[in-house]
Amino acid sequence: MTETNRRWYLAARPTGEPTREDFEFREDDVPEPGPGEVLVRTLFMSVDPYMRGRMRDAESYAEPWAVGDPMRAGIVGEVIASEYDGLGEGDVVNGELEWADYSVAPGSTLRQVDPELAPVSTALGVLGMPGATAYFGFTDVGEPAPGDTVVVNAAAGAVGSVVGQLARIGGCEVVGIAGSDAKTKWLVDELGFDHAINYDTEDVHARLSELVDGVDVYFDNVGGEITDAVFRHLSVRARVVVCGQIALYNATEIPVGPRKLTTLIQKRAKVEGVLVRDYTNWGEAFERIAGWVARDELRYREDVTEGLENAPEAFFGLFEGENIGKQLVKVRER
Ligand SMILES: NC(=O)c1ccc[n+]([C@@H]2O[C@H](COP(=O)([O-])OP(=O)(O)OC[C@H]3O[C@@H](n4cnc5c(N)ncnc54)[C@H](OP(=O)(O)O)[C@@H]3O)[C@@H](O)[C@H]2O)c1
Repeated sequence: MTETNRRWYLAARPTGEPTREDFEFREDDVPEPGPGEVLVRTLFMSVDPYMRGRMRDAESYAEPWAVGDPMRAGIVGEVIASEYDGLGEGDVVNGELEWADYSVAPGSTLRQVDPELAPVSTALGVLGMPGATAYFGFTDVGEPAPGDTVVVNAAAGAVGSVVGQLARIGGCEVVGIAGSDAKTKWLVDELGFDHAINYDTEDVHARLSELVDGVDVYFDNVGGEITDAVFRHLSVRARVVVCGQIALYNATEIPVGPRKLTTLIQKRAKVEGVLVRDYTNWGEAFERIAGWVARDELRYREDVTEGLENAPEAFFGLFEGENIGKQLVKVRER
């Protein structure tokens, strides 16, 4: 193999918003697979909000990345060489690999992707981790019923856009909250949300007062002030699904906001966190979502940044709301 392997390393732990200085781009040799391993050439790489947590040296449900180590990501790639019986050259796979042109991994940690079923990039989005998060978080933790009013924020993102459509398919009234008019228009015109609020230009509490008579399921991807506003509208026996708190991921100190827990007593509401990795039956989610996509009942969008060298900028964009739909980095053609 004459090519070199471009790889992104964590150079420093960010304080506040991550910057390019926190990353280092280096060229290494292409690795060789050992027994039971495969060599994967990256086609698409995912950038995800959770990566900000991995850059922090803090206890969490997963180990933080070490400074000086290669960064890791959800990857869809092609098998170039295999020392694992279950996979052969040319197979398309998905797994947690490196921000790199090439990665080596145990074959048993990879899932095979069927390129005939859907574009392979969807294995990082609607038919991948974000799709599974939306499906299990909404159906299992949200416990929706037809006629419920559902509010979801980061609604034009990878998880939120699926949650809102699952709610619509399930016969709920859906309000999406997002950060631009282009996003709110997409939610209502293309995805069939009943209403959408631009939190950047509109008062979320005032708009909810006009639009709904109580919120039965609140799917929270954001936290902070938006959550303070939505809590004021919870119905009796409301379910709050805490999926993400992206408004707080770059905070150096957690801001103290209004204390809304009395609402939980008044409304006998339930607040529950969800972690997609607790669910083992992702195949069930993908089968159902693929069916809705095939019947055009559920739509998805991908925001694709070209080039591995631009991966940090694609990541930063998540915190600026630059993406509509799933943010991906395209590394090479198949
Ligand atoms: N619990 C789990 O297992 C699990 C799994 C996957 C994802 N998540 C969480 O789910 C959430 C969504 O993830 P995703 O992958 O689908 O990302 P995404 O929604 O595609 O992208 C992030 C979006 O968050 C919004 N945002 C960023 N900073 C914000 C702020 N300060 N205030 C309000 N909105 C802000 C932006 O949209 P706007 O333009 O609307 O601001 C941005 O486009 C994240 O919090 C993530 O950590 C949790």
